[in-house]
This record gives sequence, C-alpha cells and structure tokens, in this order.
Amino acid sequence: MTVNDEQLVYVVTGASRGIGLEYVSQLLQRGQRVAAAVRTPEKAPGLAKLAAAHGDALTLVTLDVSDSASIKAAAASIARAHPSGIDVLINNAGIFGTPCQSSEQDEEEFKDILMINTVAPFQVIKALLPLIKKGNKKQIVSISSTMGSIGIQAESIHGGAEPGSMARKAVAYRASKAALNAVTVSLAVDLEAEGVTVVSMCPGWVATDMGTTASVSVGIERPPLDTPTSVAAQLKVIDGLKLEKTGTFFSHEGKVLPY
Ligand SMILES: NC(=O)c1ccc[n+]([C@@H]2O[C@H](COP(=O)([O-])OP(=O)(O)OC[C@H]3O[C@@H](n4cnc5c(N)ncnc54)[C@H](OP(=O)(O)O)[C@@H]3O)[C@@H](O)[C@H]2O)c1
Repeated sequence: MTVNDEQLVYVVTGASRGIGLEYVSQLLQRGQRVAAAVRTPEKAPGLAKLAAAHGDALTLVTLDVSDSASIKAAAASIARAHPSGIDVLINNAGIFGTPCQSSEQDEEEFKDILMINTVAPFQVIKALLPLIKKGNKKQIVSISSTMGSIGIQAESIHGGAEPGSMARKAVAYRASKAALNAVTVSLAVDLEAEGVTVVSMCPGWVATDMGTTASVSVGIERPPLDTPTSVAAQLKVIDGLKLEKTGTFFSHEGKVLPY
C-alpha cells in the first residue's frame, strides 16, 4: 500500500514488458489496483503470471495506442472496471524506431514515431480524462526521455557530440518526446484549475528491449539501470506528486529536468 495506506487505481499503458510491466508488478505488490493496457494480451506472459497471482486487483485491457477505436474501447472497458474513477494514469507505451543517424531518419517511420509517442498519449489522456477527474489523486504521468530535452540536446551543438554518439541519433524519437513534453505543459496549464496534475518523467537509461537497442547502437552492451530500480525510484516521485508541481519534467530520481 502507499505511505497513506490508501488503495488507489492506476492505469499503465504498454504493460506487456519493460518499464510498463515492472510498474504493474510493483503496484500490485503494494496492494494497489491496476488496469494494465496491452496491445496483444496473449503475447504478454509476464502479465498473465501477475493476473494469476493477483486476481481482481489487476484488470487486463486490450489497447493498441496507434488505433483510435482501440483507445475508445479501452477507455470504455476501464470505465466499466473502475466506474468511480482512476487515480493515476501512467502513459508509458512508446517506440524508439530503427537506430540511425539523425540526418538519415526515414520520414514514414518519423510519422509513426510521432503518432505512437506523442499523439497517442494525448488521445489516451483525452479518453480517460473524465475518469481521472473523478479520481482522488487526478494525476497523469507521461513517460518521456531526456532525449526529448532540447535544453540538454543543445549542449551537444558546436562539436559537443562525437561521431557515432547517441547525441547525433534518433531525431524522430527526440522530436516525439520533446512534443510529448509540450503536451504535458499545455495540459498542465489547461487542467490545473480542475486539480489535475500532469507531469513528464524520464525513467533513466534502462535495460529493457528499447534501452538495450539504443545502447547497442552506440557500442554499449547494457544500459546502466535495471527496471526494478528505475520503477521503484519513479514510484517514489509519483507518491510525492502535488498539484504545485504540475507541468514539471522529472528524472526518475525526482530531479527537475530542463525542457
Ligand atoms: N528504456 C529506456 O532506457 C527508456 C529511456 C527513456 C524513456 N523510455 C520510455 O519508457 C517507455 C517504456 O519503454 P521501455 O524501455 O519499457 O520499452 P519496451 O521494453 O520496448 O516496451 C515498450 C512498450 O510499449 C508498448 N507499445 C509499443 N507500441 C504500442 C502500441 N502501438 N500500442 C500499445 N502498446 C505499444 C509495447 O507493447 P508490445 O509488447 O505490444 O510491443 C511495450 O509494452 C517508453 O515510452 C520509452 O520511450 C525508455
């Protein structure tokens, strides 16, 4: 349970593996209720195990965030499971794309990355907003990345980025997370008066399928953080979230990151 022993309802997207699955696991261990949204439930064996162990505390929801109809259907299904509202939405589903130099990014893939990492989280927020407003906490956490920080990226201009370094790569992913951060700030401004807290969170460089794809592309075998450590730290930040901090871009350790 939380510090206050309050049973809360969390929605986690992209819950089949990686950071999303770890969120579900740690939240269930704390005695919370979770709606775990996955594209293909049959291909999420880790989640099936959690479902067997935790019964009613876990609701499995089918959600392909690239499909507007699927977002609407998932929101309806979450509303049926949790008619009195949800406390925290963790907008986690995302893609990295094919690692490449920024100047060689394929345009069609660029569009897909923007759809999945920026437009889809916005649509998920919109679809779940009535339930979020009914909840006690009224919190939205979008999983972003320091790769989307224009402030941090700007430090690599004027020779700051070695040939082959990550700073020269992944323009579409960077743009999608910068735009996701803009969604965070815009909605924070819009929804503050209604008591809804909206933040972005960077989980750190984590050893998931995505994190490892990125690290291998620059010759690093394994990212520095493991999922349990990253998610435990992120949950501490979320536990302490207050409306005064709406619109903030947090690191997994709770540091305020530059946009
Ligand atoms: N790992 C890192 O170092 C790192 C760093 C910064 C930010 N992040 C962010 O953290 C989040 C989670 O990443 P991760 O590292 O856990 O990556 P991951 O292991 O590759 O997992 C990505 C998750 O997103 C889901 N997803 C992708 N496309 C989807 C779609 N169309 N509909 C529904 N779900 C979809 C995947 O579902 P399927 O199994 O169905 O494909 C999977 O559950 C992402 O937003 C990522 O950008 C990660």
